[in-house]
Parts: sequence; C-alpha cells; structure tokens
Amino acid sequence: MYAITGITGKVGGSVARTLLAADQPVRAVVRDGGKARAWAEQGCEVALAEMEDGDALAAAFKDTDGVFVLPPSEFDPAPGFPEARAVIAAVATALEEARPRRIVCLSTIGAQATETNLLTQRTLMEQALSALTVPVTFLRPAWFMENFAWDVVSARDHGIIASFLRPLDKPVPMVATADIGRIAARLIQEDRLGSNVVELEAARRITPNQAADTFARILGRPVHAEAVPRETWEGLFKSQGMKYPGPRIRMLDGFNEGWIEFENGEAGSTKGDIVLETVLRELIKGAA
Ligand SMILES: NC(=O)c1ccc[n+]([C@@H]2O[C@H](COP(=O)([O-])OP(=O)(O)OC[C@H]3O[C@@H](n4cnc5c(N)ncnc54)[C@H](OP(=O)(O)O)[C@@H]3O)[C@@H](O)[C@H]2O)c1
Repeated sequence: MYAITGITGKVGGSVARTLLAADQPVRAVVRDGGKARAWAEQGCEVALAEMEDGDALAAAFKDTDGVFVLPPSEFDPAPGFPEARAVIAAVATALEEARPRRIVCLSTIGAQATETNLLTQRTLMEQALSALTVPVTFLRPAWFMENFAWDVVSARDHGIIASFLRPLDKPVPMVATADIGRIAARLIQEDRLGSNVVELEAARRITPNQAADTFARILGRPVHAEAVPRETWEGLFKSQGMKYPGPRIRMLDGFNEGWIEFENGEAGSTKGDIVLETVLRELIKGAA
C-alpha cells in the first residue's frame, strides 16, 4: 500500500495515477473528504489528514510500503517559516511512528542553498527527515513547467509573458509535473538505504524567450517575454496581497544569479521526457 499526500494536486495526482496504472494499491491522503470520491471510485483507500496533524498522518501512513510526502506550498511565509515548521513536525512524528518501508519526499532544486529564501522551507524539511531512522528519498524537481499557467491569458490576449526569470536568454531548468509523478512512483517502489537525493529536470533547459516562442507557435500569434523590473517586485507582490515578499524575491534572485541550481549540476540530474510544448498545449486548452 502506498499513501499519497497532495493527491488532489498536480504532483500527488500524477504519482497516484502512475501507481494505479501499474495495479499498485493507493491510499489517498486528503484533507477534504469530498475531494476523495474520485480516488475512491478508482479503488483507492481514503484517509483524512491535514499536513499539520501528526496523529492523523500517523494513522494515514500505517501499514504502508511507501509514503509520498508533498509539503504544501507557502508563497508568503511568516518570518522563521512557522507554517513549514508545523508541517515538518507533524510529518516527522507521523513517519517515525508509522515507520513505512520507504519515503519519497518532494523537495526542490536549490534545497541545499545556504542563503535564506522561499526554498529554505524545503531545506528544513530535508534536514528533519534525514534525521529519521527510516530511509527517505528527496526528489528535487526543477521549476515546474506548469508555472506558465499564470501566463496563458496574457500570452493569448496580449502576446506578452511577464518574466521574473532573467535575463530572458538564460536557460532555466524546468520539468513537467507528470514527469515528477512518474519518477516519484518509481522511487517509492525501490528499496534504498539511508537518505538519498534525486534531482530532476527536462531533457533541455528553457529560456524565457524560448517559452514565449513556444506559446507563439501554439497560439498562432506573436508572443514575447518581458522582464519584470527587479525594483518593482516588492511593490507588485505587496499589491497582490503578500505580507512577506522577501523570501520569494530572494528565491527568484537565486535562480537568476545561479545560486539556486542542482547540487550535482545539469550533468548529474535525472532527465524527464516531457517537453514544454506538451504542457503549454494542455494549459492553453484548460484556459479556453
Ligand atoms: N512550482 C514550482 O516550480 C515548484 C518547484 C519545485 C518544487 N515545488 C514543490 O511542489 C509542491 C507543490 O506541488 P503541486 O504543484 O502538485 O501542488 P498543488 O497542485 O498546489 O497541490 C497541493 C496539494 O496539497 C494539498 N494540501 C495543501 N495544503 C494542505 C494541508 N494543509 N493539509 C493537507 N493537504 C494540503 C492540496 O489539497 P487540497 O486539494 O485540499 O487543496 C493538494 O492536494 C510544493 O511542495 C513546492 O515546494 C514546486
């Protein structure tokens, strides 16, 4: 039995679909019972748990061969990352109690960076779970291709994608969430010792200009990338409701300045199969 958290989202859903397609038993760990129906109809067991509830997670992780941990995103963390720390404490307690045979935890590119930024939330998760006595694999994916969902309307209606990634001709490691799910499903079925890191990106790195060209090809209209000036970010993020934009800004700086990178570099990363055009076609179809 494989317990999958985040199953109603992109990556967790992809992990579960891959396991189900291989006739493996799946337990859907959800916080909203209503959202579990579709998974129950596909033969999944269902367990209710918030990621901050150690007791509920321990019950959800009991009697499993593997647990997939998806830490929820928090783009606007309070100082000291209390939201991530609450999840980390609950997940660590639950894993120590349930002692599944294998754990795959979704982490991120740049989790090894020493400078504080948004991804520090995953650095803290890796530190806590590495200390467990149960083997754990940290899957560190690149920038999600699905992040371009935010640009579909602007590309389609105005021919512009606004880019925080810059310069516009700098290749960025990216990956499709379906590739992450497929690799996570493979890792959760493999026995490994101790803690491991697997870094994952698509076969080719992508520049913002190339992403705009891909939009243009699919939409059949000119599309170009425009860099959002660095000095406007803080005001922009605050106008969008963020209270603490600093960690997000430093994360973007880290990608642009190159200190958010894979620990083992491009040569050392596992490569996915899915190309950006496939993901953008789906995003554009979904927005229509
Ligand atoms: N975006 C990127 O470029 C990038 C790159 C590297 C790593 N990551 C990592 O990817 C992860 C996000 O994955 P995703 O895009 O698949 O997420 P997603 O589609 O936003 O789905 C999030 C999932 O987590 C569940 N969830 C959220 N808060 C929860 C809580 N408090 N208790 C229980 N369940 C909760 C959601 O359940 P509901 O359906 O009930 O909301 C949903 O199933 C984050 O850990 C992020 O750090 C992202």
